[in-house]
Amino acid sequence: MTKVLVLGGTAEARALAATLHELPEVTVVSSLAGRVRDPRLPVGEVRVGGFGGPERLAEWLSDNGVTAVVDATHPFAERISAAAAAATRAADVPLIMLRRPGWPSRPGWHWVDDLHNARAVAESLGERVFLTTGRQGLPAFADSSHWYLIRCVDQPDSPLPARAEVLLDRGPYTVDGELALLREHRIDVLVTKDSGGPLTVAKLDAAERLGVPVVVVRRPATPDLDAVDTVEAVLEWLRR
Ligand SMILES: NC(=O)c1ccc[n+]([C@@H]2O[C@H](COP(=O)([O-])OP(=O)(O)OC[C@H]3O[C@@H](n4cnc5c(N)ncnc54)[C@H](OP(=O)(O)O)[C@@H]3O)[C@@H](O)[C@H]2O)c1
Repeated sequence: MTKVLVLGGTAEARALAATLHELPEVTVVSSLAGRVRDPRLPVGEVRVGGFGGPERLAEWLSDNGVTAVVDATHPFAERISAAAAAATRAADVPLIMLRRPGWPSRPGWHWVDDLHNARAVAESLGERVFLTTGRQGLPAFADSSHWYLIRCVDQPDSPLPARAEVLLDRGPYTVDGELALLREHRIDVLVTKDSGGPLTVAKLDAAERLGVPVVVVRRPATPDLDAVDTVEAVLEWLRR
């Protein structure tokens, strides 16, 4: 019997859990951080909340008889990925990363290393900014005098720019919907993380069509681990 812990919070993690749940020789437990008020839940057993750091995660793996871990968290979830690498080393449990590829660069994209640079570049490109980088990074924009359309899943709980409109929504989005949004709010510049994947790519297509520049935050470095980008490749790894 194989017991797999899937560190989740992404569409890929949900797809993997659904596939593993069908395999009689596998028990799967998905783990969510508990950041989102009404998360999309994976199929099968789910635990919610932080582990309390890498040592606690290592204990959790041993106490729960986990035989393999898949880190299928978001490419920008750096701390849990580092914790997974350390904990699996300590508990001697095999680990693989399931990570969607980043988006290929397009004309009109400006690559930056972090949100502070994203703000500086975006504000040099226009007055009306569409910010899609999530709730957690909002303090980097709080004292701005530019106008912001902020789209995120849950209501932000940190200070916002004085001139901001919050749009609560979650993907997937359509190109037509994104075109309408960019036009309605007369957006000058779009800010995104290089999240990759199909669920939120429509904004990039819409921006390209309208000639709206895009500021893209590069992914953080990932731990040096085995990594794959499909559910099938994870199954292959588990079989081996
Ligand atoms: N960052 C993004 O842009 C983004 C976007 C979409 C979805 N997500 C998802 O949202 C979650 C939180 O993202 P984040 O950027 O806040 O992560 P993070 O900075 O890497 O993690 C912060 C802490 O949250 C806990 N945690 C994170 N993911 C967890 C998981 N899957 N299961 C149990 N505990 C978890 C851990 O707490 P302890 O130290 O207490 O163990 C971790 O130290 C991730 O699971 C990620 O897949 C993130």
